[in-house]
Amino acid sequence: MGTTIGIGLLGLGTVGSGVAKILLSPQGRHPLVSEVHLARVAVRDLNRPRDVSIPTKLLTKDPKEVVDDPSVDVVVEVMGGIEPARTLIMRAIKAGKSVVTANKAVIARHGEEIATAANASGVYVLIEAAVGGGIPIIEPLKQSLGGNRIKRVSGIINGTTNYILSRMSKEGAKYKEVLNEAQDLGYAEADPAADVEGLDAADKIAILSGLAFGGSIDRTKIPTIGINNLQSIDVQYAKQLGYEVKLLATAEKLIQNNERLDSIPLALSVQPTLVPKDHPLAGVNGVNNAILVEGEPIGKVMFYGPGAGAGPTASAVVADILNIAGVNQLETSTTCLDPLLSANSWRNCHLVDRNVMIQRNYLRLNVVDSPGVIGRIGSLFGDRKVSIQSIVQFDASQEGAEIVVITHKVSLGQMNDSLEAIKHLKEVAGIASHLGCL
Ligand SMILES: NC(=O)c1ccc[n+]([C@@H]2O[C@H](COP(=O)([O-])OP(=O)(O)OC[C@H]3O[C@@H](n4cnc5c(N)ncnc54)[C@H](OP(=O)(O)O)[C@@H]3O)[C@@H](O)[C@H]2O)c1
Repeated sequence: MGTTIGIGLLGLGTVGSGVAKILLSPQGRHPLVSEVHLARVAVRDLNRPRDVSIPTKLLTKDPKEVVDDPSVDVVVEVMGGIEPARTLIMRAIKAGKSVVTANKAVIARHGEEIATAANASGVYVLIEAAVGGGIPIIEPLKQSLGGNRIKRVSGIINGTTNYILSRMSKEGAKYKEVLNEAQDLGYAEADPAADVEGLDAADKIAILSGLAFGGSIDRTKIPTIGINNLQSIDVQYAKQLGYEVKLLATAEKLIQNNERLDSIPLALSVQPTLVPKDHPLAGVNGVNNAILVEGEPIGKVMFYGPGAGAGPTASAVVADILNIAGVNQLETSTTCLDPLLSANSWRNCHLVDRNVMIQRNYLRLNVVDSPGVIGRIGSLFGDRKVSIQSIVQFDASQEGAEIVVITHKVSLGQMNDSLEAIKHLKEVAGIASHLGCL
């Protein structure tokens, strides 16, 4: 390594520009920022106007040139997408270079392969910016909470959907209208699928679970329901009943007392969920994110802040760069890794079937407004040992009525059995919504 650490930046878009701005203005920041410098930068379009000024000689269209450049000590991947990002990360690792990435899509799918290669090469792959934007959550899970047995991690980890849900709640607006406006304002991508279908949140909860519970997670098995079919009427009914609807990502260890099992059963899901108004996650609005970690002995701790954007995300990327810079100053041997900074699985975990997951439920049923219908629905639930917390009828008219049911905690298997029976009642025209409820 040279006297200061050379950074190879793959990407100079929203996050890359934010990182470059910090590295180019070290005054007033931690002294380690002065110990790193921008060595090479890869972009797709050399002629695109940028809001940060980079010497032309540092720029290239070929990201491999950045990875292979001998003046680059640490590769910072902020280009996004699966390929060529994954191949470039692996190339950097093989060349003995540590990597910092904000790319949750790559880490959620290839994190194990990348961590194994990094450990074999004696380098770090740090991912603070991949979840929660500017919120420090990866390092706390790896280090600050290391003495805990983590029971549950839940959170609002997608800013776009939280912005849409906050506006649906405040203004009674429809999903499609708010999505269109969010796209005009730049809060939502032109192709919003990854956000609104819950896929981005699923990537992030896979990463958080791997760190919280110690084993790698099969990303493809996470039950994922987005907000793309959510109706504004459910957001309004939820409010009347004392709840906010949030896209909640949750990961829970199902066995708390037997840590000696060969594989730890975990329940993971992403779904629109009713959150009681006095719950700390209910007050998280707009593009903000929050992650609630529950552990023993700490109890509950919540991390809250800006979940995206150039500045917040660059703040997290630079924190990782500084961690590597700090360790490099201390290291006497390149094969001696700080075990708290490197990402190692230390046990096996597996995901349980959705039917055995236990949750409270919100249901909206379209029914014929006839005497006794609530009683019949109640009995069908009772027969299947599903206990009801509240059952309320809304909007009775000649066309029918809507019944909203909130259950106590029950397995999704029991819940689905009950719904199958309820569907066949002649007074029930349809099950309009089924959401989770905290
Ligand atoms: N934006 C956020 O708030 C945020 C928050 C957390 C995490 N992240 C993650 O951070 C990463 C970057 O996001 P972003 O919003 O900064 O993306 P972005 O604005 O689209 O920037 C991507 C950058 O990568 C360059 N690039 C893309 N493909 C390339 C290729 N094949 N060769 C060379 N350069 C290439 C682009 O070059 P041109 O500029 O020439 O097109 C651009 O500079 C993603 O993984 C994202 O998920 C973003």
